[in-house]
Amino acid sequence: VCTPAGYAYDIVPYVGAADPAADIRRLESTASLFGMTPAPPPVARVLELGCGTGANLLPLAIEYPHALIVGCDLARGAIASARATADALAIGNVDFRHASLADVDEGWGEFDYILCQDVFSWVAPELRRRILVILSRNLAPQGVGFVSHDALPGWHLHEVAREMMRYHTRDLAEQQAMIDQARALLSLAAEIQDQRSGTYAALIRDEYCLLSTIPDAELYHLLTEPHHRSFYFHDFIDELQGATLQWITDAGPGMCESWLPESAQTLLRQAPTLERQQYVDHLANCTFRRALVCRGDVQLRPRADPQVLRRLWIGLTAGARVERGIGCEGIRLLTDRGELVASDPVVGKALCTLDDARPELASCSRLFPAELPVDFLLDALRCGAIDGVLTPFTLTNRIDVLPTASPLVRLQARQGGFVTNQKSEPVRLSALSQFVAQRLDGTRDRRELAEEIERVIESGGLDVDIALAMLTGNPGELTDESLRDMRDNALLIDSNTREA
Ligand SMILES: C[S@@+](CC[C@H](N)C(=O)[O-])C[C@H]1O[C@@H](n2cnc3c(N)ncnc32)[C@H](O)[C@@H]1O
Repeated sequence: VCTPAGYAYDIVPYVGAADPAADIRRLESTASLFGMTPAPPPVARVLELGCGTGANLLPLAIEYPHALIVGCDLARGAIASARATADALAIGNVDFRHASLADVDEGWGEFDYILCQDVFSWVAPELRRRILVILSRNLAPQGVGFVSHDALPGWHLHEVAREMMRYHTRDLAEQQAMIDQARALLSLAAEIQDQRSGTYAALIRDEYCLLSTIPDAELYHLLTEPHHRSFYFHDFIDELQGATLQWITDAGPGMCESWLPESAQTLLRQAPTLERQQYVDHLANCTFRRALVCRGDVQLRPRADPQVLRRLWIGLTAGARVERGIGCEGIRLLTDRGELVASDPVVGKALCTLDDARPELASCSRLFPAELPVDFLLDALRCGAIDGVLTPFTLTNRIDVLPTASPLVRLQARQGGFVTNQKSEPVRLSALSQFVAQRLDGTRDRRELAEEIERVIESGGLDVDIALAMLTGNPGELTDESLRDMRDNALLIDSNTREA
């Protein structure tokens, strides 16, 4: 493969994180709800186009040694990093190929899941067409594709700041100068607009806040990609249909229609499914979508199948909060997007059970032996308040005598930055938890961990949050605090499964 000289993703490496919505266990359950019979994740064949450093694929490969996993990327550095991680963990079922997605042909075989995260909007039109060709040709008959893309109308607003920064940096070649100058101009614009009122002032302030939080590498790619394109939902659907693909649903998390005013809900009820999606995007200013797609000849159900819903394992997501009142009636399930109210006491009781069991999941049929609250569950899945999977996550809410984290988590904790938890969510650990996570190979008990914490604090080798150290006082308490942190973040596995 010949990566072009000065390839942007080799000049400035992009450190991506796993997208929980692209986890094939979630893809399996969502596609099944819509009538498909996708391959079970433990034996699935998975391909990722533009896999970067393997953030989505490595956790799968380690968890499912009988799955067959292939990732390709044009960035030499990203593939080298992905391979190095696979080698360090002796993962044998993943093949990271330094290849352009333009090279993926029939010879690569059929895949049960094809992922394409944050690539579609960022490549030239011919490569976008290529992605759709791969999906229509290399997906198995019941295969599921995941394609995330930037969406309109929301991206019209983002483009204002992006175009301003691109104009300002158009003649710069050196990347840090480009990044610094882009940030400086946006900061100047935000300062000018700070005390003003009106749409433009609000937009610039929002963009300034948003872009202040993204790493330099991400900003660099935002500035330099000449082909960036965001899509109206209906245009994306046209592209899919042109490639004999169909849209299954959005992998979310998103907005529940029940949060819209009654008049908007009436409008939506009158619209056919696909048009309805477009209206939601217009009404709620959609900026990003995660499309699940399949071959055009698959027979999809128009509505989710309650029989499949009953077979799900469900659990509360990290961002969801259960607000308990008195008794189990009127319990509220809150997310940062909105809230759902469980007026049925059976549903309220189930939410309390799930809250107490966090981060573990429970079987839907056990939680609801009688009638299934179909609409509530579908809304909660849609807005990302609950997770629902047919193939449960491997995790525990117990802190074992010999607490254990996956080898990937231990390695990532050693490297610093994010670790990927057992639900494919990126988690940023405190310095203390990072220190402890590296040691959770199932050979140390709480006392041994505490001794190591004590030694490293004494030697000045660990910068424990001072407030935490004062609050908890001794290494034993710090250990417990850290282990609870890891349990709550779905990072602990049963010590018996550590060799799996
Ligand atoms: C924004 S990054 C996303 C990386 C990863 N999917 C993630 O979300 O973390 C885009 C990726 O697409 C890759 N890419 C762009 N054009 C490509 C091509 N023609 N073939 C393979 N990979 C490509 C880039 O090298 C880069 O790693």
